[in-house]
Amino acid sequence: MSTGFACPTACPYLAPAPRPTEWAVGQVRRVAAVDPAGEVDETKRNVLKLLAVAGIVGAGVGGLVGGTLQYIQPPSVGLSSYPVTALIDVDGSPLTVTKVESEYNVDTNSLYLFDYPLRNEPNFLLNLAPANGQAPSATNPGAWDIPGGVGTNGSIVAYSAICQHLGCPAPAISYYPPGTCSKTFSYNGGNQNFYIHCSCHGSTYNPADKASNLTGPAVLPLPQVTLIVDATTGEISATNLTGPPVNGHLNSLQGDYGVGSSSQLEKESPIWLCSFPA
Ligand code: FES
Repeated sequence: MSTGFACPTACPYLAPAPRPTEWAVGQVRRVAAVDPAGEVDETKRNVLKLLAVAGIVGAGVGGLVGGTLQYIQPPSVGLSSYPVTALIDVDGSPLTVTKVESEYNVDTNSLYLFDYPLRNEPNFLLNLAPANGQAPSATNPGAWDIPGGVGTNGSIVAYSAICQHLGCPAPAISYYPPGTCSKTFSYNGGNQNFYIHCSCHGSTYNPADKASNLTGPAVLPLPQVTLIVDATTGEISATNLTGPPVNGHLNSLQGDYGVGSSSQLEKESPIWLCSFPA
């Protein structure tokens, strides 16, 4: 899982473009096709010798390189479909609705991240239910019945923790609990004061509304992880990703090895900068 705040220099999309190949300028020499004096043209002879030697060496090197490349080319990796991946709590036990609802809420000020569907691609796990267990209201921040939400009141959601602008990963992009910044957004008839915000360039997403954009420069929402709950055990699994592809991918299934049948949450400290665009 990517954990370091390495934006912008380590963001792959901000790296300088590769320079064009710079070829050395060779000297062009004129070589007569026929020596009118019938004498041997040493220049022509030398050029022909060089071409012959280069051909032999080139054939040998080409064979060697061709034979070696097949071993150094990275293997094609990725998945053909979304796996069912059981989520594991930070303590190593299965992540259940009961645990999430008792341990996490809208005020939780640490990040809980898990990789899905590929390795090194973190997602936020959020429970946006108010800490007091009461229904959300203008004076009781939080969200129930979130699209795609699971749990008693549909308050448990998961979104990609890779920004849709230029790909800054968590914790550069972090969840901001109510009141972390003075900034609020009008949503659902109130002034919402909790959100996902990216410190790299200020994009903001609404975790109560499918991670839709609240501020740019990003224009797309964060991909949402589809969660399911085992009716018997209450254990939570990830089964799909909806919305746009994870930033940097044409297809969220391609680009690295799959995370497998289970993925453990990691706890991480957020970065809060309240750096909203004007
Ligand atoms: S990477 Fe630019 S706002 Fe997140």
